Amino acid sequence: MKKQNVTVVGGGSTYTLGMMMSLIAEKENFPMANVVFYDIDAERQALNGQATEVLFKEHYPELESFKYTTDKKEAFENADFFFVQIRTGGLEMREKDEQIALRHNCVGQETCGAGGMAYGLRSIGDMFSLIDDIRQFNKDGWILNYTNPAAIVAEAIQRQYPNDQRILNVCDMPAAIMVSYATALNCNFWDLVPEYFGLNHYGWFNKIKHRNGEDLTEKLKDIILHEGIKAVDAEIVNDPSWQATFKNMKTMLEDNPDYLPNTYLQYYLYPEKMVAKEDVNNTRARQVINGREKRVFEQCKRIIEAGSTNGEDLHSDIHGRYMVRIAASLAYNKGDTYIVIVPNNGIIRNIQDDAMVEVHSSLTSNGPMPFSVGHIPTFQKAMIETQLGYEKLVVDAWFSGNKQDLINALTLNRTVVNTPKAKAIVADVLEANKQYLPQFN
Ligand code: NAD
Ligand code: G6P
Ligand code: MN
Repeated sequence: MKKQNVTVVGGGSTYTLGMMMSLIAEKENFPMANVVFYDIDAERQALNGQATEVLFKEHYPELESFKYTTDKKEAFENADFFFVQIRTGGLEMREKDEQIALRHNCVGQETCGAGGMAYGLRSIGDMFSLIDDIRQFNKDGWILNYTNPAAIVAEAIQRQYPNDQRILNVCDMPAAIMVSYATALNCNFWDLVPEYFGLNHYGWFNKIKHRNGEDLTEKLKDIILHEGIKAVDAEIVNDPSWQATFKNMKTMLEDNPDYLPNTYLQYYLYPEKMVAKEDVNNTRARQVINGREKRVFEQCKRIIEAGSTNGEDLHSDIHGRYMVRIAASLAYNKGDTYIVIVPNNGIIRNIQDDAMVEVHSSLTSNGPMPFSVGHIPTFQKAMIETQLGYEKLVVDAWFSGNKQDLINALTLNRTVVNTPKAKAIVADVLEANKQYLPQFN
């Protein structure tokens, strides 16, 4: 098995340590030779970097080298795989996105609605610069991207790099939901084979099968309708906000038992309820700043200080393991099935070809081979097309600097709908993001 070189872009991310634990847990499936962290914030990255040095010394002594750097050439030239997880504007701008939408009585969320629009507009330019920089030094390394909002980022990347066959956008949410399914069904996560369709953070499972062929869909629906479902993955199990989200799965399924919904549909199906429970001074971004971010960096400091991870609660999570297994399937031509974001091209038969859809795909060394979904029913088709219109208009606006495209986008978005509100939100978003979006000035 060829050993892989991995570069983590956004080495200072709150997810980096979990990702390293996942690489350690998956070393049999995805052995590595060299690991590099790259970030534009040297100080933030150094904490993850120094803690990872300790971690790898203990748990990956066979690694040839590990380093963290802000030098592009050093970071990019030798990688077989790039795991990308950047956040333009940081969690502070995420908080602003959420607050702006909430002040207009609309859903204030990282990737959904007006917040997702603002974040998307910020992410596109940095993702383009990053991909240009990577390709200057590295022509065919796999760029596996987690950067959000994945739907808008994927749409923009597809337009800018239509011929680059080695960029793949991924979301961990369907997998995190499947971890809960596996627990409910009392089986192993890796034995579940999904059939899934939609846009990112906007889709449905139409089937869950066991690797042995057994269709578990009706059994699973029955369990959820009677007992509900809990968040169980390590990263979210102790998070009240994620538990509340998973609790809503039962309500969503009761209200529409056709398909098993993605958690993020709660923002589009119950926008009033989602707004009502929010506190503008303690949105999800603030909870993450006081929660995950604080926890991760305090842990780094303790590990660095002690020179050991002894006694630390460190765990792999599905976020990391899903990405690593995707990389393994691509690297070793395994053809395993994963849910990823790809150009539609007839996969969902009655949706336009140039939509970036999230579907189950076989991953080989030639890239994703999505499975056919066929025709989808009118309700899901109409939902998807409206949201797709929003996503495409946001990307149009990024290229053109045309504010009207953004107003139209939010008018289509189920979390906004009213044109006067859309106009007011767009004005506030552009004002708050002036420094990131010169094309609108
Ligand atoms: P974070 O702010 O903690 O970390 C992001 C890191 O990226 C920071 O260290 C920052 O300095 C760095 N960065 C910013 N711009 C950069 C650039 N241009 N080049 C290199 N580095 C840059 O954020 P986080 O909460 O850890 O999340 C990271 C990203 O992963 C976000 O986009 C988040 O939405 C995304 N995410 C996606 C999924 C998914 O399902 N696709 C799941 C989890 C997280
Ligand atoms: C899920 C989603 C991601 C999102 C993440 C964190 O994993 O798939 O796209 O970024 O949750 O959300 P949070 O609100 O906890 O920061
Ligand atoms: Mn996601």
